[in-house]
Amino acid sequence: MVTPVWTHFELAKSALQNGKHVFVEKPFTSTSQQAEELIELADRNRLKIMVDHTFLFTGAVRKIRQLVDDSTLGDIYYYDSTRVNLGLFQHDVNVVWDLAPHDLSIMDYIIQEKPEAVVATGGKHVNGLADVAFITVYFPRNVIAHVNVNWLSPVKVRTTLIGGEKKMLVWNDLEADEKIKVYDKGVQIANGKGVYELLVSYRSGDVWAPRVEQSEALKVELEYFIDCVLNDRTPINDGPAGLRVVKILEAADQSLTERGKIVPL
Ligand SMILES: NC(=O)c1ccc[n+]([C@@H]2O[C@H](COP(=O)([O-])OP(=O)(O)OC[C@H]3O[C@@H](n4cnc5c(N)ncnc54)[C@H](O)[C@@H]3O)[C@@H](O)[C@H]2O)c1
Repeated sequence: MVTPVWTHFELAKSALQNGKHVFVEKPFTSTSQQAEELIELADRNRLKIMVDHTFLFTGAVRKIRQLVDDSTLGDIYYYDSTRVNLGLFQHDVNVVWDLAPHDLSIMDYIIQEKPEAVVATGGKHVNGLADVAFITVYFPRNVIAHVNVNWLSPVKVRTTLIGGEKKMLVWNDLEADEKIKVYDKGVQIANGKGVYELLVSYRSGDVWAPRVEQSEALKVELEYFIDCVLNDRTPINDGPAGLRVVKILEAADQSLTERGKIVPL
């Protein structure tokens, strides 16, 4: 269903009760309780739920996942995304629920760890809903993610930095070609004998732009949905994946209301 967020739960519930598989836009639901209810209903009726986490089907995100899986980047240190533009103001959700589902679903797919806590700050300036937000997500082993979403930016920016132990990556989704650049840069610390003998060495090697598939993400995604239904496969963007994103959105909202209070997940 490609309808406003507040309608997702009732429409998906009705479809599942009538024996239909469901393809639902992001964010999956307005609350995690609704998401849990739909997942349970789908399981009981042996039906599929697929949440439109569109970016997982782009050549860029698939390439990044490949660079993580084949250890090109090494252990991930951080994920830092900027997704800002002017508008489009939504009536029923704030900027966090509108834009951050993209980053949170990508993060979930790339980092592949259960997040531990969320901190969010932001502000409402125009229509009573947060229109600027800075969200930090803490993962185990010091992996940290940061997402900057903003409806009040004069320019559109879609840039993600991923820092790894072995390589660092910049993904600029607005680039037509060379969306991803991988930098052979890094820092190594060696301890000398005394306290003041910390030896820092910087590595600055090659930069390369891996080839990124140019296929239409939504087409790839819908073919995948049909395949999952026909062959009884579990989609990577299934109900539980949608729920994981909704839980972070809820925590971000709570933290935002309490001016950056840390909210455990
Ligand atoms: N995946 C993406 O990249 C992406 C991009 C944009 C929007 N979205 C998502 O798509 C959804 C729709 O966003 P939009 O900006 O197109 O919203 P919108 O307000 O333009 O509404 C889309 C349609 O829903 C219909 N609609 C409204 N209430 C309905 C109801 N109760 N029953 C049936 N139809 C109803 C409207 O008539 C309209 O045609 C949202 O969940 C949004 O988050 C996803």
